[in-house]
Amino acid sequence: MKITIIGTGYVGLVTGACLAEVGNDVFCLDVDQGKIDLLNSGGIPIFEPGLGDVVARNRAARRLKFSTDMAAGVAHGEILFIAVGTPPDEDGSADLQYVLSAARSIGRHMGGFKVVVDKSTVPVGTADKVRAVIQEELRARDSNARFSVVSNPEFLKEGAAVEDFMRPDRIVIGCDDTLDGEHARQAMKTLYTPFNRNHERTFWMDVRSAEFTKYAANAMLATRISFMNEMADLADMVGVDIEAVRHGIGSDPRIGYSFLYAGCGYGGSCFPKDVQALERTAREHGRDLLILRAVEEVNHRQKHVLGEKIIHRFGEDLSGRHFAIWGLAFKPNTNDMREAPSRVLLQQLLSRGASVAVHDPVAMEEAKRVLAIDFAEAPEQLSRIRFCDVPMDALPDADALAIVTEWKAFRSPDFTQVKSDLRTPVIFDGRNLFDPQVLADAGIEYYGIGRSACTQAQAT
Ligand SMILES: NC(=O)c1ccc[n+]([C@@H]2O[C@H](COP(=O)([O-])OP(=O)(O)OC[C@H]3O[C@@H](n4cnc5c(N)ncnc54)[C@H](O)[C@@H]3O)[C@@H](O)[C@H]2O)c1
Repeated sequence: MKITIIGTGYVGLVTGACLAEVGNDVFCLDVDQGKIDLLNSGGIPIFEPGLGDVVARNRAARRLKFSTDMAAGVAHGEILFIAVGTPPDEDGSADLQYVLSAARSIGRHMGGFKVVVDKSTVPVGTADKVRAVIQEELRARDSNARFSVVSNPEFLKEGAAVEDFMRPDRIVIGCDDTLDGEHARQAMKTLYTPFNRNHERTFWMDVRSAEFTKYAANAMLATRISFMNEMADLADMVGVDIEAVRHGIGSDPRIGYSFLYAGCGYGGSCFPKDVQALERTAREHGRDLLILRAVEEVNHRQKHVLGEKIIHRFGEDLSGRHFAIWGLAFKPNTNDMREAPSRVLLQQLLSRGASVAVHDPVAMEEAKRVLAIDFAEAPEQLSRIRFCDVPMDALPDADALAIVTEWKAFRSPDFTQVKSDLRTPVIFDGRNLFDPQVLADAGIEYYGIGRSACTQAQAT
């Protein structure tokens, strides 16, 4: 099929590449000329495992092209995906300016029947707005071209995006029940047939329910994380090991093990903004989402927990102190630094006079970019960050090591070496990666999240 993707970011690029991989002819559009030039020269603007190969293979087969030419792009696709960003507005609502601008481009350039797919995460009712904008543009040029707006939210996870797209848990598609809606439904069914070979994964529903499903999914996942973080906080107070509790409750099939890790808070481009946007939608309807308000509040607090543990151990004044930090990205297997807990920790340490040596396997360049913005008003603090190419280089002379992102490469370091390299052998484990007993045996003081029972046991 001929497919056009408007917005070649994380979601757009993965969607375009994976749809080309199953034989479609895909045209990816973006307004960012630099990004399109990079893609056309064989580069990849994001780190995503496996994506480079899929893009290269399909470019070589001429099933995947990149351009900023809206008219050509809109003319190309029988199905047009809108996959642009929906960042939070000042009031927490989803900012729809990019979605509506993409819709306007479609209305301006479309000829025959088009299926317009909202793949961006958008609040309930957005399809109506997209429809109205396209209609307005068609009217302005006296066109009676037909189209149907479909909701097909994306559930891929950064770090496993290609795998998630190629083997999705579910495909959610919302169509309306008009004749054009029925044509759109048939087109979407054909498009997704290769992804349903093993078993049917598509859930068909109305457009508004599809829009809502994405927010409800992210809100649920964020809730599980904040729930465990709140339990971990209490566990620290009452001498309980949250990891033992995680196993004890995760084994219940009604609960399950996924997304039950206590840690130093969730970040990224989705959970924080989607939770906020859902709360905002509720407020517009006179409702207050009490659970989600708490989820956000707990997460905000949680991002400070690692820094607070360090301050509790070393004191409020950290001048002259030096810390090693492993992990900057908001989660492993990505270079995405949006809302990353590492940014909060760096603020806490540097503003109190400490210096840091940091390492991340792939996010260092992106970190340099965002930290230059975070510390634009405090260049002296920024100058106290040293970036290290390998994790062990961050350790010498550090008063402690803090783990912020659970990269696989951090899971099993040589603790004897760690102990001898650190000035004082202390580890703050923001992702509960390590076994406290192993560290105790290695002579390393250990602070996890919700693991005070282990630390107390070692002390006695
Ligand atoms: N990143 C994720 O893991 C993920 C997962 C599921 C859903 N989503 C949702 O998907 C949407 C896109 O997210 P993302 O992370 O891919 O964003 P992104 O910022 O990586 O990419 C958006 C792209 O759209 C381009 N763009 C903006 N306006 C445009 C226009 N008018 N025409 C053409 N291109 C335009 C930008 O230049 C950018 O390259 C968001 O709504 C997000 O919530 C993201």
